[in-house]
Amino acid sequence: MPVSVSGLAYTYGTGALAREVLKDVSLTAEDGEITIITGPSGSGKTTLLTILGALRSFERGQVSVHGSELGQTDRKGLVEARQRIGFIFQRHNLLKSLSVYENVESGLHLLPESDPEMNRIRAQAMLKAVGLGTRGNDFPSTMSGGEQQRVAVARALVRMPDVIIADEPTAALDAESGLLVVTLIRDLARKLGCVVIMATHDERSFFAADRRLHMENGRLRRLDT
Ligand SMILES: Nc1ncnc2c1ncn2[C@@H]1O[C@H](COP(=O)(O)OP(=O)(O)OP(=O)(O)O)[C@@H](O)[C@H]1O
Ligand SMILES: [Mg+2]
Repeated sequence: MPVSVSGLAYTYGTGALAREVLKDVSLTAEDGEITIITGPSGSGKTTLLTILGALRSFERGQVSVHGSELGQTDRKGLVEARQRIGFIFQRHNLLKSLSVYENVESGLHLLPESDPEMNRIRAQAMLKAVGLGTRGNDFPSTMSGGEQQRVAVARALVRMPDVIIADEPTAALDAESGLLVVTLIRDLARKLGCVVIMATHDERSFFAADRRLHMENGRLRRLDT
């Protein structure tokens, strides 16, 4: 199974300040499949996504991402796991001092096969795929929110990740741009065969889901799609 979680629990803080925000969470996701997680603010969605994305370590439960057991791996293992994961966040995640090309290419620098000329070709192809083939030399500040988010999608996907983690990717967008971004994520994920796990409050994104989960007070349950 490409992504599988079982019995995951997570607590912020210790002692009297301890707060358990994930309780016995289990889920599975297949390649090419889109899982959408909904749930009230503070229910634990971002916490779960940061664990799945190897950005946060945990002590209780099993999390396996394409064969890596994240709970048993050391810092180096987490860094390696992270290279097979693409992240898309709500906003403010492009570097303003870098051009669009450079932002997208930043997704490639850590790869062993990184090479400036090849990186530019891959960045250009991915920008074209998100409809921004002519904007590579522009800077993020000259683009709309929807265009910037499409650059973020290109950056997450340019290294052909096995898994895409998206945390409210449409929250800062208008209806039309949000729809475009979710459609792009879905179509590219299907084409590349990667797993997508996306938290969203945006009902207009639900159409893209193969599987819907709902988080409430740290517990995750399946909704019928
Ligand atoms: N670094 C932290 N230290 C302590 N508590 C935290 C920390 N980060 C989050 N929390 C708490 O954990 C709970 C879950 O937060 P989380 O960010 O996972 O929720 P969420 O479902 O993503 O909410 P939202 O929809 O608002 O983004 C919240 O009550 C939050 O206050
Ligand atoms: Mg959140």
